[in-house]
Amino acid sequence: MVESFAFGREILRSPSMRQAMDVGDRFDLNHPDTVPVIFLDGEQHRRKRTAIAKFFTPKAVGTHYLGVMERVTGTLLADLQAAGGGRLDVVSLELAVAVASEIVGLTASDRAAMSRRISASFSSGRRPPRGRLAKAVSGAIAGLRLLRFFYFDVRPAIGARRKARGTDVISQLLDLGASDSAILIECIVYASAGMITTREFIVMAAWHLFERDEVRSRFLEGNEGAQLAILEEILRLEPVAGMVYRKAAEDMPRSEAGPLAAGRRFAIDIRAANSDEAAVGPCPHALDPERAGQGKAGGHLSFGDGPHRCPGAPVALQETRIFLDRLLRLPGVALERAPDMYWNATLMSYELRNAVVTCERPAPLER
Ligand code: HEM
Repeated sequence: MVESFAFGREILRSPSMRQAMDVGDRFDLNHPDTVPVIFLDGEQHRRKRTAIAKFFTPKAVGTHYLGVMERVTGTLLADLQAAGGGRLDVVSLELAVAVASEIVGLTASDRAAMSRRISASFSSGRRPPRGRLAKAVSGAIAGLRLLRFFYFDVRPAIGARRKARGTDVISQLLDLGASDSAILIECIVYASAGMITTREFIVMAAWHLFERDEVRSRFLEGNEGAQLAILEEILRLEPVAGMVYRKAAEDMPRSEAGPLAAGRRFAIDIRAANSDEAAVGPCPHALDPERAGQGKAGGHLSFGDGPHRCPGAPVALQETRIFLDRLLRLPGVALERAPDMYWNATLMSYELRNAVVTCERPAPLER
């Protein structure tokens, strides 16, 4: 287990390191075009990463996805206002799904229904199954849920993109001759890495801002840069992905921790690394909106680092910023019920459910 920021970052940046997620061994690296980018390494990874880079450039975010973020936020918050409140995890997932599905090309099914299917497929469940039978039943249910995601969301998207390509991941995969199952796997990666993560982060950031008057005021009075700095500081303290894994592909005679032998595996504890005083300065467990201004802004690994660093980071931060800025300005808005917290051992991530916000309903129009 790696808890030092400097050593964790060195591992993530090192060309001698490889991904070490268990599931990664199941892919056929002879066909790297059909393997999700997160499971590739070295030259194969570099090529795929270059191919998807166009979906994540500042220009793509500014010209295309920003409009989606603003439009969907507007609709979701108008509905929330009309109802006088609603569940934060439900609303935030719908936003995260709307934005990431534009990038992926998952746009041929009903968004709210897809959000529900994604939530059912990737949430941990309240009580992890115990015993062989319970685990087998739960595995079968998970398989069925993924089938529904394929049948109702992925397959129609593939059909639509076969007829007319777009600028998205599915169109790119079709051009490369990817099979339906390879496209499904890619969609699963984006659903868990891009949609579920962002949902959790939006709820966590909202929770912090509702409960801390001073930070909330700074957020609402701040410009875009100041708002993003506050969100980065919250993400430093509350990393959604708690662990990332690597193994050494070759001997490393020198490292922060001395010589490392080929084959050695590392679990990088992001929360611990992000609280390493040597990297982030004094009081590492405190939420300090000034921290970024003290030159410690890059001091977190919540989006990973090195070649696999999250390409969706600007997307996730920007949609969270836009959504929270509008939410916190709704007349009479309050956090009526704090979220329940669960642990997703597969994603090594917290899950925040059932937070309820309330706000004033708009006055009826006079006739
Ligand atoms: C708050 C939200 C998010 C968090 C905390 C997060 C976190 C991470 C982390 C820690 C990694 C690195 C994993 C590793 O090194 O093994 C990663 C990779 C990745 N993320 Fe994100 N992510 C978020 C949002 C997004 C979004 C919105 C998208 C896309 C729409 C996305 C797409 C990806 C992809 C494709 C990778 C793999 C990159 C590669 O292997 O080169 N993520 N993310």
